[in-house]
Parts: sequence; C-alpha cells; structure tokens
Amino acid sequence: MTKKLEINWDQLGFEYIKTDYRYLSFWKDGQWDEGVLTEDNVLHLGEAAPCLHYGQQCFEGLKAYRTKNGEIQLFRVDQNAKRFQDSCQRLLMPVIPEETFIKACLEVVKANAAYIPPYGTGGSLYIRPMMIGVGNSMAVKPANEYIFTVFCMPVGAYFKGGLTPVNFMVSDYDRAACNGTGQQKVGGNYAASMLAHEIAVKNGFADCIYLDPTTHTKIEEVGAANFFGITRDNRFVTPASPSILPSITKYSLLYLAEHVLGMAVSEEDVFIDELDIFTEAGACGTAAVITPIGGIFHHNRLHVFYSETAVGPVTKKLYDTLTAIQLGDLAGPEGWITKL
Ligand code: PLP
Ligand code: COI
Repeated sequence: MTKKLEINWDQLGFEYIKTDYRYLSFWKDGQWDEGVLTEDNVLHLGEAAPCLHYGQQCFEGLKAYRTKNGEIQLFRVDQNAKRFQDSCQRLLMPVIPEETFIKACLEVVKANAAYIPPYGTGGSLYIRPMMIGVGNSMAVKPANEYIFTVFCMPVGAYFKGGLTPVNFMVSDYDRAACNGTGQQKVGGNYAASMLAHEIAVKNGFADCIYLDPTTHTKIEEVGAANFFGITRDNRFVTPASPSILPSITKYSLLYLAEHVLGMAVSEEDVFIDELDIFTEAGACGTAAVITPIGGIFHHNRLHVFYSETAVGPVTKKLYDTLTAIQLGDLAGPEGWITKL
C-alpha cells in the first residue's frame, strides 16, 4: 500500500471517485464466468439491453472500514449478499452465490485498499455491487445475458455529516407500490424517487419522507434510509411495511437497542399524525449511517423531535455503538464483521 492519493479524507461527501479496480463477471448460456478484476470503469452494452429499457437491474451498498490498528473490515457483507439474491429473484435475474458476492467485494476492497479513508477521518469505502440485464432483446422479458460488477469509492457523509440533525418534508408522491418492488434494491424505485427528492431539496429539506402507498397515514422511508424513533417510554420503534427496503442498518440497530441498550424494540405502524409519541427520531442506512431527524414538515407544520441542532442521547448512544463496531473499536455480535 505505497500509493499516495490526493484525497482530502475529511472533506469527502458521496460523489463518484474512480478507484483502480472493479470486479466484472458475465453470465451467458446459463452460467457465470470466472470473474476478473479490471481497471476499465466503462461497461459495454448493446443498445437493446433490457436494463436500459425496462430497468432489469439491482444493486447493493455496503462499506469497508479502516480500524485503529490499520486493519480493513466489512460490515455484514453476508446480509447484503442475501438481499442481493432476493432482488435478483424478484426481477428474474440469475442469482449470485453468497460466496461469490463476498469474494468479489473482498477482492475489490483489497485491490483498492489505498482508497480506504484512514481511521478517525469519518470516511469509509463504499462498495457498490450491481447486476444488469444485457444482451440485445426488445421483448419485455428477462435478458439472456447479465453483468455482475462491484466497484467502490471512498465516501464521507451522505447527509450533512456526523450527528448533525437535518429536517425532512413529507412527500405527496409514493416511492413504491404496496405489492411492488419496494422491498428490493432495484433501480426503478430510485428513479421514481428523484422528483420527490428534488422537491424536498428545493424547499430547503435534506430529503423527503414517504408515506405508505395505500393509506398515506404511515411513515415508510426517509429518502434512501429507514426511519426509527425513540418513544417517550424509551422504546426503539421502526416502521413495519411490505414496501420498504429491509435495511441492514435498521436490523442492526434493533439488535443493539435491545441487547446493548436494554430497550424494548418493535417494528410497527408509525402514524404521521402521532409523532408526539417520539422524543427522538433518526434516519438509518449504510450511506446515512444514523442521521438525527431534527423535524418533519407535514401539512404546513414542522414537527420537531429532540432538537433541530443537537442530537438526542439515545440516538447518540446508538450511533456510538454502531460506529464503534463498524470501526473495530467494539466487538460486534458474531458474524457482523468480515476482516480482509
Ligand atoms: N431504504 C432505502 C430506500 C435505501 O436505499 C437504503 C440504503 O441502502 C436503506 C433504506 C438502508 O438500508 P441499509 O441499511 O441496508 O443500507
Ligand atoms: C445505501 O445506503 O447504501 C444506499 O444505497 C443509499 C443511496 C446512496 C442509494
């Protein structure tokens, strides 16, 4: 790891940065090839590739971290491998074996180790596995060829950064249909979210909050992150819904809240008109980590939780515990960490 990079580790946001190597594998005639690491960051596809026309693609997002003693570790990569398989199955794409997915992520991280932000900078290496349906085929049916690729880039904060609270605005748009693909990490969900996101940002908010597509009374997602709230009786509550992404960070927090902080936890309906039950709220996800929610704007009124400028004590404790595990300062539950 002698390479010297001109990267300002403390200033990283969430913009694309080309790293040296990515994993690339092709599926044809019913099987995956060996897969290679390549320096070429351009994909070559036919103009009639189904991913371009009909959105047959899915992706994942996870992170690798540099620990205090310089080691490199990934957080819950097996969970991303499983969710990726679920997305592939939903879109009738060939499944990637869990071992192949994990091996590809580890190879890419190792080959780009110079890009992992140093411990203490607040940065990490974001890993983006994805699959696309390729091969020229105009009918609305599964592609006959596929590309699986994994690339990575150094990242900092997705929202404002660290534990600075941000405000969100409830959107009139739905992110996903109740029996649609909201549970899967597929590009179409994100294309559908861009307008709502832009409206929220133009109105001065960090992102939008989506309500359930059937009744528009319950919180679903916070942009590209899950919602959680801490109730006045100290429960950790997060929405139960068939149309939200099953966030790996959310399930990690459910575990930590219960087993480390000793809280009662529950996945249940979170009604937008009953936000008063919460003393604190946050957005959680790989990119968002834990971002405290200052307030939610709905029906011309901003509902402030703990504070618009300061993080609440439970959110802070959850953040400290989660990030300590991710950075190797605290031992996590068995299987959560994969070392390089
Ligand atoms: N919800 C959406 C829509 C997302 O895109 C993400 C990001 O992956 C999340 C929630 C958080 O999921 P995870 O914690 O697995 O990153
Ligand atoms: C993630 O948190 O990994 C995401 O995918 C969120 C967003 C960048 C799409």
